[in-house]
Amino acid sequence: MQNELKQTKKRVFSGTRATGRLHLGNYLGAVKGYIELQNREDLECIYMAVDLHTITTPYDQKTLKQATRDIIMDYLAAGLDPEKSIITVQSLVPEHVYLAYLFSSVVSVAQMSHLPTFKDKVKQHPDNVTMALLNYPVLMAADILLYNTNLVPAGLDQEPHLEIAREIARKFNTRFGTNFPLPKRFETKGTYVPSLTGEGKMSKSVSGSSIELMDDLDTIKKKLAKVPTDGGRGEKVPATGGVANLLKMVELFQGEAKRQEAETAYVNNGLRYGDLKASLAEAIFAELQPIQARRKELEKNPDYVERVITDGARKAREIAKATLTEIMEKVGLSS
Ligand code: TRP
Repeated sequence: MQNELKQTKKRVFSGTRATGRLHLGNYLGAVKGYIELQNREDLECIYMAVDLHTITTPYDQKTLKQATRDIIMDYLAAGLDPEKSIITVQSLVPEHVYLAYLFSSVVSVAQMSHLPTFKDKVKQHPDNVTMALLNYPVLMAADILLYNTNLVPAGLDQEPHLEIAREIARKFNTRFGTNFPLPKRFETKGTYVPSLTGEGKMSKSVSGSSIELMDDLDTIKKKLAKVPTDGGRGEKVPATGGVANLLKMVELFQGEAKRQEAETAYVNNGLRYGDLKASLAEAIFAELQPIQARRKELEKNPDYVERVITDGARKAREIAKATLTEIMEKVGLSS
């Protein structure tokens, strides 16, 4: 591993785009996995609010900084621990951008423009097809490889981006004699949190689809009330749609046995959605309540949050600078 004679542990990197607060999908799909990894002795974890990625789509410069703090506070409230993980904001480590630039010299424009994630964004924001957007996966590869990362906890939707990161790593290793590991995606148990609309996954960009980390019991109840259901009885439990999604949530928050119980009711005497939704709401809220309490404490303590970010940036830069210096040498630049 380059310049990492001291590196004894495998590295983990992941980032969250600062486009608003975390919801239940992010929490179960990503942050719970982060916590699982940070508690392993054999791993060194780095988690960032990736604000440089945020500016690849339209954003508000007046609220971006607060949005990054919100991500960090949600991380901390959910249980990420700055004693165990490096927690910071991407733009405080400018080496990410530098390495992304070097990487961009081995990536073709055609390949980037054919990625489904790029095409989706072009559709969403046809007036904002920028170089930064095209370069999104390259910057993400830099985020990951700058730390010689082995594991990336992220959703399945990020797999194409990870493939790009591996491709860049291979190209650099072959062409310049670097020694980047090929990063793998780390799948967490609850990765797929379904949408309340009954279609697809819980997402920030689909209104009415998500439960926010800060929702109170009443709000959760109201949101669950809107999940579309059926008569509650039939020969077969639906595999898609609102009922299927509700049952998935039951499994995630109340366990497999509870789900079985509900399925049995569906094919026998009938399932009462009122009761099911009420107990599901309680179960979700029970999981969120301690996070909400810690979040409120953090809001009263902005100095602490800034200290976490500054310390994290210092530690991250130490690693980042070492990698970058070595890469610059190998690429033939003056470092
Ligand atoms: N693209 C990721 C997302 O949209 C965010 C991200 C940026 C990321 N850099 C990363 C995730 C590095 C994992 C590792 O969710």
